[in-house]
Amino acid sequence: MKALEKVIILDLGGRDAQQIARKIRKLKVYCEIMPYSTPLELLLEANPSALILSGGPDSIYKGNAPRCDTRIYALDIPVLGICYGMQLMAGDLGGEVILSRDQGYEKAALSVVENGEGLFNGLGKEFPAWVNSGAQVKKAPPGFKVLAQGHDFSVAAMGDVSRQLYGLQFRPDDPHTPQGDLLLKNFLEGICSLSGNWTMENFVKNSIMEIREKAGPDARAVCGLSGGIDSSVAAVLVHRALGERLTCIFVDHGLLRKGEKEQVLSLFSGGFKMKIIAVDVADEMLGLLRGVIDPEQKRKIIGNHFIRVFEREAEKLGRTEFLVQGTLYPDIIESSTATGAVIKSHHNVGGLPEDMRFSLIEPLKYLFKDEVRQVAAELGLPEEMVWRHPFPGPGLAVRVLGEVTPEKIAIVREADHIIVEEIKKAGLYRDIWQAFAVLPGIYSVGVKGDCRTYAHTIVLRAVTSQDGMTAEWYPIPYEVLRTISTRLVNEIPAVNRFVYDLTSKPPSTIEWE
Ligand code: XMP
Repeated sequence: MKALEKVIILDLGGRDAQQIARKIRKLKVYCEIMPYSTPLELLLEANPSALILSGGPDSIYKGNAPRCDTRIYALDIPVLGICYGMQLMAGDLGGEVILSRDQGYEKAALSVVENGEGLFNGLGKEFPAWVNSGAQVKKAPPGFKVLAQGHDFSVAAMGDVSRQLYGLQFRPDDPHTPQGDLLLKNFLEGICSLSGNWTMENFVKNSIMEIREKAGPDARAVCGLSGGIDSSVAAVLVHRALGERLTCIFVDHGLLRKGEKEQVLSLFSGGFKMKIIAVDVADEMLGLLRGVIDPEQKRKIIGNHFIRVFEREAEKLGRTEFLVQGTLYPDIIESSTATGAVIKSHHNVGGLPEDMRFSLIEPLKYLFKDEVRQVAAELGLPEEMVWRHPFPGPGLAVRVLGEVTPEKIAIVREADHIIVEEIKKAGLYRDIWQAFAVLPGIYSVGVKGDCRTYAHTIVLRAVTSQDGMTAEWYPIPYEVLRTISTRLVNEIPAVNRFVYDLTSKPPSTIEWE
């Protein structure tokens, strides 16, 4: 089989690494992010076709500034430095980098001086770009030529064609560089000679092969299936590889969305003919949550009990060597790269007991969410499942503030159903990352018919996001809000008021608890 073409981004601490990785993968070239400090031997083991040095902090001259092994410039593969990555390359190879007091970026018109083996093909003589106006390369290193310039940027791009080393003072992944995708394409196709053969079809084929290889001829696996896209896709992939040797366990903790259990069971057990054990622990779970109001305690109780139930059921299966998890790439990156320490740790990765007796199969651990959706489509999962909004492990319990009771869960579940139905009807569902109801536990006075009411408020939370780490509140049109409002107070007797959450993340989180 042809070796996988792979670009490796060495993450120097900037927030652009994931963004660039996504762009490269969209160009059908497989791309992984590794910490800048990855030892050269490990880097070589990964067998990259090209390297990208990402953006980073302000100055390469600071004592603790991130640096790569300088032997990377002599590997005889193309290296592209972006912003801090370019400055590091310049500094390492004998160029001159100056600092300015300005720490930011600015939109600037850049002009092409030399085309550097086609890097600027199709961009025109002048192109707009989002340029780093903090530190910049004043003098390119020996052997390099200036490839682009701007009014305030004497070296906006540089390249040493013979050594295949390139640097950009601007972000090709930023929307202010509208032709950035074309530039990346030129780099991958023209300079790195990559054919762009990483498709979801190939991904599925390779994954199935790898899972079979890892599991050997008779090992068995178990998967906690929640009906969310990640665990669903992971389960279907492993089912394709292992068939009846995979058993899925669906735990109904009583905190699910309306109709969720029925949908999951009919799709996977009926449609996909997978082995599924459904366990109903709703009463147990609600019993454990009685009187508990602290959000973290609620999460812990649900997480712990969930795992206990799962283990209990898995135990009954007899010999089972593997546990299938729908871990995604951002979960892995955030716990392993230069930026890992500062970003909130993700929920999927934690929660596994330390003395776990299973080995893990994580077929999605190198994929971003949008890629998982593509794999889902490739595997024939229905659209409704592919585009279903993410749902947290602790379910509706983190959307009922304070004590969780069966009555409150029933209210928030119905409200969620109405909201989602109206958002779908308005054709907004796919534009929105998550839209849902929150029950804040506020009672207020109202009138319904001729009667005074003292009833619940429903909050609507709707956000756009790429991966849940940051989010913007979504501007749902007034007309849709009006319909949702009317339906909520008319159809749910315990609700007499509706409000809309207009905060982004940060400073808020997406879920209210
Ligand atoms: P927050 O509330 O942290 O949520 O802004 C970010 C994203 O993660 C989801 N979320 C969870 N997912 N287990 C999960 O699998 C959890 O405990 C959990 N808590 C939050 C949330 O829905 C959003 O998509």
